[in-house]
Amino acid sequence: MEVMRAAEEREQAGGEVLHLEVGQPSTGAPQGVVKAAEAALRSGGPLGYTNALGTPELRAAIAAHYADWYGIEVDPARVAVTTGASASCVLAFLACFDEGDRVAVSSPGYPCYKNILASFGVEVVDVPVDATTRFQLTPELLEAHAPLVGVVVASPSNPTGTMLDAASLSALNSWCTLNEAQLISDEIYHGITYGQAAETAIASGSDAVVMNSFSKYFSMTGWRLGWLLLPESLLGAVERLAQNLYISAPTLSQLAGVAAFDCHEELEGNVRRYAENREILLERLPAVGIDDVAPADGAFYVWARVDHLGDSQDLSAEWLDELGIAVTGGIDFDPARGGRYMRFSFAGATHEMREATARLEQWASAR
Ligand SMILES: Cc1ncc(COP(=O)(O)O)c(C=O)c1O
Repeated sequence: MEVMRAAEEREQAGGEVLHLEVGQPSTGAPQGVVKAAEAALRSGGPLGYTNALGTPELRAAIAAHYADWYGIEVDPARVAVTTGASASCVLAFLACFDEGDRVAVSSPGYPCYKNILASFGVEVVDVPVDATTRFQLTPELLEAHAPLVGVVVASPSNPTGTMLDAASLSALNSWCTLNEAQLISDEIYHGITYGQAAETAIASGSDAVVMNSFSKYFSMTGWRLGWLLLPESLLGAVERLAQNLYISAPTLSQLAGVAAFDCHEELEGNVRRYAENREILLERLPAVGIDDVAPADGAFYVWARVDHLGDSQDLSAEWLDELGIAVTGGIDFDPARGGRYMRFSFAGATHEMREATARLEQWASAR
C-alpha cells in the first residue's frame, strides 16, 4: 500500500509509473456481469439486504461451479456468499478458532491472515517455508510446529504463485484430520494457472473450509464479493456471524455475480494475457541478474530473490525513483526474510512488462 501511495504521488506530480506492484486485475468485470448489473439497477427493485448467506441463485451458481470445474457435487446449502475473501477470512477464523488457539500460516504468505488472526487473539504459528517445499506447508512442517488447532494454506499462493498439487493437498488434509486441526484453504487464485489446473481442498477432505472470491479470475475486485464452502458443522456459526457482522454481501454484486460463471471466454482472455506477461518476466528477469524465482505456477506474481542486488525495500524505492517502476518488497509477506525478496506482479498491461524489464536491464548493465 505504501508503494502504491508513492507511485500515485509520482503520477500526480506528472511522473510516469509502470505498475508491477498491484495485486489486482487491470481489467474490469466481464461484459456479462456489467449487463446483469445494468438490468438489476434498471429493474426498479429495492436492492435491499439479502439472506445473510447470499441469494439462492448465487449460492446455486457457485455450487454448480464446483461440478463444472472440479467434477465435485456441492450442496448449495454449504455455500456462504461473503463480502470478498477478506470477509471470508474474518468469518472462517471467528467460526473456527478461539483466543489462544495455535494456527499455522506460512511465511512468505498473505499478511492479512496473520493480522486478522492476531487481532482475534489467536496465536499465529509462523512457519518459514522455502523453495524445498515450493514455499508451501507440508505435513512434516506441521508436525514440527504441533500442536495446532488450525492451518491456513493458499494455492496458488500470494506472493509466491506456487501451488499445492492434489497429493500435497490430500496429505495436508489427512494430517489435519488426524490431528483434529481445521484446514482452511484460500483458493482465490484458482483459474489463474499456467499448466496444471489448481486442485480444491474439498476434493480430498469434506471438512476443509474453502475460501474464494470474485476478485481475481473473475476480475471483480471492487465488487466485494466472495464465498466460503463450509462443512455442515460450521454453517450455523458462520450464518450468525455473517448476520451480525455484515447483514449480507452487496446485493447488486450478488445479482450480477451469477452471470460471471457464463463469462469464461472473456475471462480466459485475461488469463492468456497474464501468461504472456509471465513469459516476459521469466524470460527477461535473468538478464537483470534475477534468476532465483519461485515456480510461478499460478496467480500473477513472480517471487524473486534480489539480495545480491540490495535490500528489497531500498531497491523498490530506488526503482520507483530512478526508473519509474513500482514493485513490492517482500517484507510484508515475510517479516524475517522478506528483505531478500521482491514480488513482481504481472497483472498489468503487457507493454508495461516489456518496458519495465527493458529499463531494469539497462539499470543492471549500468551498475
Ligand atoms: C491470497 C489472498 N487472499 C485473500 C485476498 C483478499 O481478497 P478479496 O477480499 O478481494 O476477495 C487477497 C487479495 O489480494 C489475496 O491475495
